[in-house]
Amino acid sequence: MIIARNVAEMRAARKALKGPVGLVPTMGYLHEGHLTLVRHSKAENTSTVVSIFVNPTQFGPNEDLGKYPRAPEIDLTMLEKLATDVVFMPTPEVIYPPRFNTWVTVEKVTERLEGAVRPGHFRGVATVVNKLFNIVQPDKVYFGQKDAQQCVVVKKMVTDLNMPLEIVIVPTVREPDGLAMSSRNVYLSKEERRSAIVLPQSLKLAEDMIAKGEKNAEHIRGEMRAIIEREPKVVIDYVSIADGNTLDELDGVKPGAVISLAVRFGRTRLLDNMVVP
Ligand code: PAJ
Repeated sequence: MIIARNVAEMRAARKALKGPVGLVPTMGYLHEGHLTLVRHSKAENTSTVVSIFVNPTQFGPNEDLGKYPRAPEIDLTMLEKLATDVVFMPTPEVIYPPRFNTWVTVEKVTERLEGAVRPGHFRGVATVVNKLFNIVQPDKVYFGQKDAQQCVVVKKMVTDLNMPLEIVIVPTVREPDGLAMSSRNVYLSKEERRSAIVLPQSLKLAEDMIAKGEKNAEHIRGEMRAIIEREPKVVIDYVSIADGNTLDELDGVKPGAVISLAVRFGRTRLLDNMVVP
């Protein structure tokens, strides 16, 4: 396994790889969700590159950049076990040298949901992902459904800017009790961890309502809110039922719609979502 720490090293490693090449962008502190993306890339490509970079430009001034969990040595051991070909681990200076001044802004689909709560977040994501695409030049890039709006934004950028690669979305990997795996789950206290299962439970409720023929999106949002609010000390940022391409809020549920929610448990903000079958 080659570890590339700057652009020249990554480009040299890329030249030696047999294609097709899959890329899995991550911020490290890897868990089974990330590793599932790597397995998908391994299965569908001859070579796999994983990037580990805690991207400062996607964090707001009051967010958790400083305390974002990191464990590079453990990450590398996990990636080695999966026979990853190259790990790209740049420093912030490599990605954002002095006087860096070019940004990628995807409009409209970034205005709502996460974009509304985290201004500038998707500008940071789109810019870093674009740079990773240019540095690594992959054929396929793997993203998790877990971050539903990120998937929509990246796909829109790739389409709008004619990027010569394919985006592959991998289903959310969950803990045995249904909680979506996330690097941020480590922040939860025991009590918060217990309440956090209302996220998948509320999605299951929505799924059951839809299976029984419920079409009224506001009715479903209301029932989801009600079960989440039964937990003490949780704050709902949003419960959304939106069009899967535009992320516009829907009155009537339809196949392909994305049901997503963001909820705060103490200081930890968790996301979850499902796509209406
Ligand atoms: P990070 O949060 O480290 O996630 C890296 C990738 O793993 C993302 O595509 C994310 O959706 C996916 N992922 C996380 N948890 C998952 C789960 N439980 N099941 C399936 N996939 C999961 O997302 C980012 O980093 C960054 O924004 C990044 C794209 C790397 C740009 O900086």
